[in-house]
Amino acid sequence: MSTTAHIDLSAFEHNVSRIVADASSAQTWIAIKSNAYGHGMLELADNAIKAGATGLAVLDVSAALRLRAHGITATLFAWLHGRHTDFAAANAAGIDLGVSSFAELEAVATAPGVGRVHLKIDTGLHRNGFAADDWGHACTRARALEQAGSITVVGVWSHLADAGDAADAAAIGRFVDALEIATGAGLKPLVRHLAASSAALRNPSARFDVVRVGIAAYGISPFDDTNGEGLGLKPVLTLQSEIADGGSGESIINSGWNDGIPQVSGGHAWVSVAGSRAHISEVHPQHTVLDGVFPVGATVDIVGGSGPRAEDWASWANTIGDEIVTGIPAHVRRVFVRN
Ligand SMILES: Cc1ncc(COP(=O)(O)O)c(C=O)c1O
Repeated sequence: MSTTAHIDLSAFEHNVSRIVADASSAQTWIAIKSNAYGHGMLELADNAIKAGATGLAVLDVSAALRLRAHGITATLFAWLHGRHTDFAAANAAGIDLGVSSFAELEAVATAPGVGRVHLKIDTGLHRNGFAADDWGHACTRARALEQAGSITVVGVWSHLADAGDAADAAAIGRFVDALEIATGAGLKPLVRHLAASSAALRNPSARFDVVRVGIAAYGISPFDDTNGEGLGLKPVLTLQSEIADGGSGESIINSGWNDGIPQVSGGHAWVSVAGSRAHISEVHPQHTVLDGVFPVGATVDIVGGSGPRAEDWASWANTIGDEIVTGIPAHVRRVFVRN
């Protein structure tokens, strides 16, 4: 067996339904950016909608257009644009556009069609979005473009940094102030959205009209104090290989860091071989050495299944669960299953 990622669509639907229920009156948009965090964008898009999501969030317009062409009729939100972004195609396909700067606002407005704009206020993350000082002007300009018929301002949004209770409360306060300025400029009705996984799960005051949830939908915790299971979520991805060779106290799997296994060594990292723990001794580009001799052909759960969770790998590799699953490269076969 070459390295294979089994994607459990039932687990994904369970997580999405759970998040939809927790969001209560807020809508849920599932973030399927970066090929659905490495899980497979088109397959997970269909199943997110089936499980109750009312929209999908992707980074760029080209991904949103692929989803429209695939047949998704729900809201598609794209927020990362560049000089070559095809806003005309986005407008024709009714893609909702996050707009973070005056340049983007003018580009959407001058493209043929009527742009569906969500203005982004920077509430403290400093990743992108209009600065507070520019916000009033951004709202008046957007209102003028709306009155001219070139855009519709559909929403106001931001992204919460999840930087602790006090910082998040301050960011929510800045978001509320920005909303008041927007309505004062004549923009309404507005879809208001701020929360990603962490706030959607634990901070009802950040939910507003829509939560945009990524990592939790894949069964991975956004928090340090608990894993996905502790949140009632099921892991969606299981990365598997098999014992290819062994002897002299070691076994080899033909999967390495080329296949998305983080380069950990000499620590606590382990995998599960037919249900038994095997410590990892070395990770190479195309193979990994395990301590202990196991039968050739035995199934190895590297991430998920009876193996460690993405959160365990994240702690061994000093990163976050997102990077573990998103880092599994495209050549690794995805097999979609229902357990
Ligand atoms: C704008 C935006 N919304 C939502 C998400 C989803 O975040 P999470 O995976 O923490 O739920 C992200 C992730 O980077 C994002 O950038």
